[in-house]
Amino acid sequence: MKLAPSILSADFAQLGAEVERVTPIADLLHVDVMDGHFVPNLTMGPALCRSLRRRFPDVCLDVHMMVNEPGKFLRAFAEAGATNYTFHIEVVDDPQRLAQEVHAAGMSAGLALNPPTSVERILPHVAAFDVILIMSVNPGFSGQAFIADVLTKARRVKPMLRADQRLEIDGGVNAATAKACRDAGCDVLVAASAIFGAKGGRAEYPRIIAGLRNGTTGPSRS
Ligand code: DX5
Ligand code: ZN
Repeated sequence: MKLAPSILSADFAQLGAEVERVTPIADLLHVDVMDGHFVPNLTMGPALCRSLRRRFPDVCLDVHMMVNEPGKFLRAFAEAGATNYTFHIEVVDDPQRLAQEVHAAGMSAGLALNPPTSVERILPHVAAFDVILIMSVNPGFSGQAFIADVLTKARRVKPMLRADQRLEIDGGVNAATAKACRDAGCDVLVAASAIFGAKGGRAEYPRIIAGLRNGTTGPSRS
């Protein structure tokens, strides 16, 4: 199981220190990009990605584009050092063509779908992507409750994947929900508030990440 801390819940005024604390034990760093149109929030852009790349040259930067026009920004993120570029099926007419453009720009490509979107919509495109990202909250904000129904999508997609493809889940992942994600076949967990919102602060991050990775806590809320 791989862990992708999402910096959306980090303390932005101390972002370098926050990221420094998680990178030694995390597998990817998840960067949530929002445009105020596809989702009702604004977050970060290529400049932040570039700063992260400069300071953390080896980190896998997993960029999640919650924007209406992902094609418009892929070159800027590639130049800023993004490793993976995930966009949403809900806003693209030809996902496979955009995946080709992402690959041509030197990044791996991810396809995401929101909780209300039928899994049938992504099935014809799965083979063209490196990552399938199942949203387990309606995107826009961290700290929302996990929507367990989406795990049926994970179980549907998982058998279609090659060994080199990842199944990622994003939203509401915490100690109470991580095991259900793993059992449904997810191999990358994205978590923002469960890590960066830790009551004990930065000292707690490694223990929380280790717990999520092992999925040691059961599905009941603790
Ligand atoms: C949702 C974002 C997520 C979010 C997850 O809009 O795509 O990556 O940061 O936050 P948590 O883990 O707190 O649900
Ligand atoms: Zn995300």
